[in-house]
Amino acid sequence: MREQIRPAASITGAIQLPGDKSISHRYAMLAAIAEGTTKLENYSTGADCQSTLACVRALGAVIDNRDGVISIQGRGLDGLREPADMLDAGNSGSTIRMLSGILAAQAFESRIGGDESLSRRPMQRILDPLRQMGACLDARDGRFPPLTIHGSQLHPIEYTLPVASAQVKSCVLLAGLYADGRTTVHEPVRTRDHTELALREFGADVEVLKRSITIIGRPHLQARTLRVPGDLSSAAFFLVAALIVPESNLTIHGVGLNPTRSTLLDFLVEMGADLKVLDVTSSGGELLGDVRIVKSPIRGGVLEKARTAALIDEIPVLAVLGAASEEGLIVRDASELRVKETDRIASIAENFRRMGLAIETREDGFEIPGRQKFHAAELDSFGDHRIAMAFSVAALIADGECVIEDAGAASVSFPEFFDTLHRAAGE
Ligand code: S3P
Repeated sequence: MREQIRPAASITGAIQLPGDKSISHRYAMLAAIAEGTTKLENYSTGADCQSTLACVRALGAVIDNRDGVISIQGRGLDGLREPADMLDAGNSGSTIRMLSGILAAQAFESRIGGDESLSRRPMQRILDPLRQMGACLDARDGRFPPLTIHGSQLHPIEYTLPVASAQVKSCVLLAGLYADGRTTVHEPVRTRDHTELALREFGADVEVLKRSITIIGRPHLQARTLRVPGDLSSAAFFLVAALIVPESNLTIHGVGLNPTRSTLLDFLVEMGADLKVLDVTSSGGELLGDVRIVKSPIRGGVLEKARTAALIDEIPVLAVLGAASEEGLIVRDASELRVKETDRIASIAENFRRMGLAIETREDGFEIPGRQKFHAAELDSFGDHRIAMAFSVAALIADGECVIEDAGAASVSFPEFFDTLHRAAGE
């Protein structure tokens, strides 16, 4: 699918976003191994979270979607059944990495794989800790999907993450549900804590001491009724759009404000964004509220170390903001971008080149000068949802109409993205 984006006069109105992708995955997986029927409101409509639903359905959970509320009949900790075919995680790294923690402990063998992009993504990071727990797994060429998982009895471990990854942390904690005793993960930098919060919601015993998280094995997980907050990483595209398009004034309702994710808002404010958070409430241990933003001059800034890790999904659209800012954007310590759905440093750089924008790339980041002119161009998502959406935002301030090739990739996390964007742009 090709999408045409015209320059916008303003980004205005009030919008609501689909449920947070990270939280949706976790709720679906925990619902499948809980006792009773979980009901999930505002579950992510993105293809990635539908892949998780399809996987847990193939493992025996009965799923129903009525009026947008997803019901999942849990099978209890030991009730999953052997899938008939290979589980399909589609494009979703979260699905394969987190679900593998559960699959490793089952009394059956399973295989899990995904699309071409997923098949190139590194799995060593979960194979290592799972093997330490006694899991028996094989990967293509020793490190890529598909994975073959021979379920086995797991034992608890204490594990220090070599990479800052919430997916790996979650994989170990989910495997820890099945290990008798205390499984502890130490994080070098804090990563999103949705798994810890969700585990507690479903009744597991989780202890958090600074950056060490311990799960006590063999809990009775209980079904819950939960509402998924709007996805802050999807909001990022609209926040940046409102900051760079003249005359913008936008409200985003019910968006997730978990402190391990809201570094985005702090960073935007630090760079000069006129942004207000209103009506903060909590649901399932997660904070959410409304965000109001108006067009503001943005200074630019530097992203490095822990902040880079906290903003890793937002970097493509922050690159666009950087080029429109006064002083530009420097990103360091971001080698993880090379192993996302695409090599995001390369995808950003290629679209910058097409729009006539300057960027200097390094192995683990880039430097973008500010005050740049965005030229109309044929842009490409390269099959990556966040690249599709980031460059649709860039197109809003180009000097003519842009085309985004393979724009349908956006539906991996946000199928309603183009409708919402066109509406906010007054079309
Ligand atoms: C996610 C963690 C991050 C993030 C991804 C979702 C999660 O990945 O980039 O989009 O839901 O835990 P890593 O764990 O690889 O950092």
